[in-house]
Order: sequence, then C-alpha cells, then structure tokens
Amino acid sequence: MRQNQTVWIFTVLIVLGLSLPGRAWSRTVAMQQPCANCHTMHNSQNAATVTGARQDALMKGDCVGCHTRTSGVGFDEGGIIKPFVWHIADPGYNEMAVSTQPTLAGGDFYWVADGTPLRDDLKGHNVAGIAVQVSRTAPGDLAVKVYDIDNPLTCAGVNGCHGDGTGTQVQQQVVSIWGSHHSNAPIDGSSPKASYRMLYGRSKNVLGGVLGAEDPDWEYTLSATDRNQYKGELRSLSDASASAAFISSSCARCHSNFHNDDDTGNTGTADLAFASPWIRHPVDIDIGGRGSEYAYGTGGLAANFQVQTPLGSETFTNPPRATLNLDAQNGEAIITCISCHRAHGSPYDYSLRWNYQAWPGGGYNGCGDCHTTKN
Ligand code: HEC
Ligand code: HEC
Ligand code: HEC
Ligand code: HEC
Ligand code: HEC
Repeated sequence: MRQNQTVWIFTVLIVLGLSLPGRAWSRTVAMQQPCANCHTMHNSQNAATVTGARQDALMKGDCVGCHTRTSGVGFDEGGIIKPFVWHIADPGYNEMAVSTQPTLAGGDFYWVADGTPLRDDLKGHNVAGIAVQVSRTAPGDLAVKVYDIDNPLTCAGVNGCHGDGTGTQVQQQVVSIWGSHHSNAPIDGSSPKASYRMLYGRSKNVLGGVLGAEDPDWEYTLSATDRNQYKGELRSLSDASASAAFISSSCARCHSNFHNDDDTGNTGTADLAFASPWIRHPVDIDIGGRGSEYAYGTGGLAANFQVQTPLGSETFTNPPRATLNLDAQNGEAIITCISCHRAHGSPYDYSLRWNYQAWPGGGYNGCGDCHTTKN
C-alpha cells in the first residue's frame, strides 16, 4: 500500500515535472487552442472563401500570417507566449541581450520589411510576404540559385530554411514541416518534427535534422542558463564531416562556401587543412586552448557564457552550462554562423547581432568577446 502510494506520488511528480513551463524541451503551450482558431474545414465561412491562396493542411493562414504581430509589441498574448518573428511596430532591440527580450532568438523581420520608412534588405533575410522579392542570389551559394518574385525566398519548403526542402511549389511550405506543430517528438534529427526548430539541414547533399536543445520560450527570457543550445562539432578538414546536425550546416544549404576554408562549398572535394591562416571566418571550431588573444568574455579557463555571442556545443545539459571549460578544445565553445548573425533580422547590416559598425564610440564590438586583446 505504502509502496503503491510512493509510486503514484512519483508518477505525478514526473508528469508534473515534464509539463512544467520552462522545463520541457517540446512544442506545446500555444497549440492548446480550439482547432478552428487555426484550421478551416472547408475553406469557407458564411459562404465566403477564407483564404484565396493555396493553404495545405486546411490552414487559415500561412507561416507569415500566424507568426506576425500586427499591433503592439512583445510576445505575451492573453498569457500565452507566442513566437512572433515579425512585428509591424518597432519591437526594439537589446544588443546585450539580457533579461526579457524585445525580439526572439532569430531576431525580427521588422528591419527587413517594406514599410514607411522603407527598410533594408541587408538587415536580414528578405522573405516573401515581408518584403518585395527583387532578383538576387545568396552570397556564397555555389549553385547560384536565383530568388525573385516568381521564385521567392520563403520560411519553409523548397526555397526556405525550415523543413526538409520539399514541396514542389513555393506555396506548399507546410508540406516540408508536416506534423511539426503538433509534435512533442524528442530532437533526434530523424525528421523535420524531430529537428531543432523544424530545421532539416543538408550537408554534401545528405539531408538530416539539425540538433539542439530548444528553449521553450524561444529566448524571450534569456540568461546563460535559460537559452537555446546549438549543436556544433569540431572539424579538422575544411570540407570533412560537416554534419547536417550542425546549425551552421543549415545555413550552408544556401551559403555553402562560407562554411569552409576553401572554395569548394560542401561538395566533398579538395579538403584543405581547417586551420589558421583562414580565408573565411571559421565555424565548427572550439575557441578553447588557443592562447594568445583567444579567450571568451571576461577570460579565464572557466568562461562565463555570453548571451550576446552564443557558442555551440557537442553535448547539451539541462539547465544549459553557465560556464564553459576552455582549457582545451572540449567541444563546449564552438563558433557557429549564429554566434555573429541573427537568422531572421536585426537593426544592423548583415543581420549582425551587434552594432559593430558604430564601434568604437558607440555600438558593441562582439568580435572582442573572443579576440580579447583586440577590443
Ligand atoms: C495557424 C497558425 C500557424 C501557422 C500557419 C504556422 N505556425 Fe508556426 N507556430 C504557431 C504557433 C502557435 C507556434 C507555437 C507552438 C508552441 O507553443 O510550441 C508555432 C511555432 C513555430 C516554430 C517554433 C517551434 C518550436 O521549436 O518551438 C517554428 C519554427 C514555426 N512555428 C515555423 C512555422 C512555419 C515554417 C510555418 C509555415 C510552413 C508555420 N510555422 C505556420 C502557429 C502557426
Ligand atoms: C534557403 C536559402 C537560405 C538559407 C538556408 C540561409 N540563407 Fe542567408 N541568404 C539567403 C539569400 C537568398 C540571401 C540574399 C539576401 C536576402 O534575400 O535577404 C541571404 C543573405 C544572407 C545574409 C546577408 C545579409 C542579409 O541578411 O541580407 C546573411 C548575413 C545571411 N544570409 C546569413 C545566413 C545565416 C546565418 C543562415 C543560417 C542560420 C542563412 N543565412 C541561411 C538565403 C538563405
Ligand atoms: C495554434 C494553431 C493550431 C491549432 C489550435 C491547431 N492546429 Fe493543427 N496545425 C497547425 C499548423 C500550423 C499545421 C501545419 C504545419 C505542421 O504540420 O506543422 C497543423 C497541421 C495539422 C494537421 C496535419 C499535420 C499533422 O500534424 O498531422 C492535422 C491533422 C491537424 N493540424 C489537426 C488539428 C486538430 C484536430 C486540432 C484541434 C484539436 C488542431 N489541429 C489545432 C496549427 C494548429
Ligand atoms: C565566438 C568567438 C569569435 C568571435 C565572436 C569572432 N571571432 Fe574571429 N576567430 C575566432 C577564432 C577561435 C579564430 C581562429 C583562431 C585560430 O585558428 O587559432 C578566429 C579567426 C579570426 C581571424 C583569422 C585569424 C587567422 O589566424 O587566420 C580573423 C581575421 C578574425 N577572426 C576576425 C574576427 C572579426 C572581425 C570578428 C567580428 C566581426 C570576429 N573575428 C569574431 C573567434 C571569434
Ligand atoms: C565571427 C563572426 C561571423 C561568423 C562566425 C559568421 N559571419 Fe557572416 N558575416 C560577418 C560579418 C561581420 C559580415 C559583414 C562584413 C563582411 O562581409 O565581412 C558577414 C557577412 C555575411 C554575409 C554577407 C556577405 C556578402 O557578400 O554580402 C553572409 C551571407 C554571411 N555572413 C553568412 C554567414 C554564414 C552562412 C556563416 C556560417 C557558415 C557566417 N556568416 C559566419 C560575421 C560572421
């Protein structure tokens, strides 16, 4: 009897523990609404068409529609934190990224969007539905694929970052992330729904899911121990083993050359040593054990995690590591593309995390977080 009670209490505690906000690494809270808030059964309401453009999965809107905050700022709507990635009003930006954030981990498309005043392509990814699609290519893309009004850059699908790159028409973004919104699957990279933020990367043309540990509020509240954890791993050759699991590999789908130290992209040929002197800023290397100018933050062998210059790691902890062990290349302090860039957009050119153009004098020199003697 006593034993049964203990087992029962333990079960309740475990279930509670898994469902506590801020603890579970899964997608859930904002999905707990009536189906019809998001779906339309016949694409018809009071005999009028709900949505003119093609919407798979009986959706009432597209990705941009749901992920846009049309008035006001912030992420709290009726007590539910929602992942808005585009605010129509200026959300503000916190360069040093502390406490409650005006933008989520990816930044915001606000600075890219067409509007008054007209904003700027260079501030982030120019995605259909947010800004006009002028003809252009992705810098560093060896395939030189052209994006334009007929073939726009999109959130997901064949021309997008999220999902597995499928969906034969650019309007079919949902196909590439099928099942992800309703999924609590553990992140093992086996499918888009089991991948970090539905990112299913590609390396040497091998598809695979990006790994990571997801902060349940997408870094709305942020600290060294309350944040996303990005997957990185150490590479020794410029083109070797750039696994699709790395967050940087998902950028390399379109910016292949920037992922390497030669000009071969992710083609599997001509491996050069992956070492100084570099011809492109390295990613997939650990800043530990390098000596000379290289330290992180305030320095020392146990360096405090810097939320404004986040690093990837080979393994994840719960809660995330507050200090990184830098005495050697331990796989705890790995540079990724998003150590310096925001994936969606920022107020700064090249979608940088910090305003290094205004430094010195103002702004912030994020380079100095690692190149500590050059600050
Ligand atoms: C009907 C509204 C709706 C549509 C359409 C929609 N989303 Fe979402 N999305 C949401 C909500 C709500 C959440 C928050 C889910 C949660 O609480 O975990 C979310 C979460 C996400 C997340 C974060 C998941 C995570 O890891 O926590 C991503 C990435 C995402 N959506 C991408 C997309 C993409 C890409 C599309 C278009 C193919 C899309 N969404 C279409 C409502 C929508
Ligand atoms: C689906 C293709 C695609 C993927 C994946 C992609 N990009 Fe881009 N990127 C583009 C295109 C196209 C441009 C050209 C300008 C534009 O459309 O905004 C661009 C431009 C950029 C720029 C130049 C400044 C700007 O924002 O316009 C930066 C920086 C950048 N990308 C960083 C990244 C990072 C970091 C990742 C991974 C998190 C990434 N990109 C993933 C297609 C992609
Ligand atoms: C907050 C918005 C939201 C609510 C509420 C919602 N859905 Fe969805 N649902 C989505 C989005 C977005 C997709 C398409 C993208 C995807 O599959 O990730 C989707 C996809 C689906 C799919 C196809 C993919 C899959 O997961 O099997 C089914 C079936 C579905 N929803 C049923 C339901 C039902 C039934 C309810 C009510 C119990 C419901 N949805 C409530 C947003 C929502
Ligand atoms: C997250 C840490 C980090 C940040 C932020 C960072 N770097 Fe680096 N950088 C490194 C490391 C580590 C190396 C490689 C050192 C080595 O190979 O020994 C490197 C290499 C370089 C090199 C090439 C040196 C060589 O040996 O060939 C230059 C130049 C450089 N960085 C400039 C910058 C600039 C400019 C910025 C800011 C826009 C910046 N870095 C931001 C860590 C960083
Ligand atoms: C150490 C910081 C740092 C890292 C890491 C980094 N970038 Fe950049 N990136 C910059 C800066 C600074 C610029 C703008 C100035 C310049 O081009 O040097 C830039 C520019 C770009 C551009 C625009 C280039 C152009 O021709 O206009 C793209 C695209 C880009 N980065 C993508 C990436 C991708 C993809 C990765 C990962 C493989 C990455 N970056 C890693 C700092 C970084």
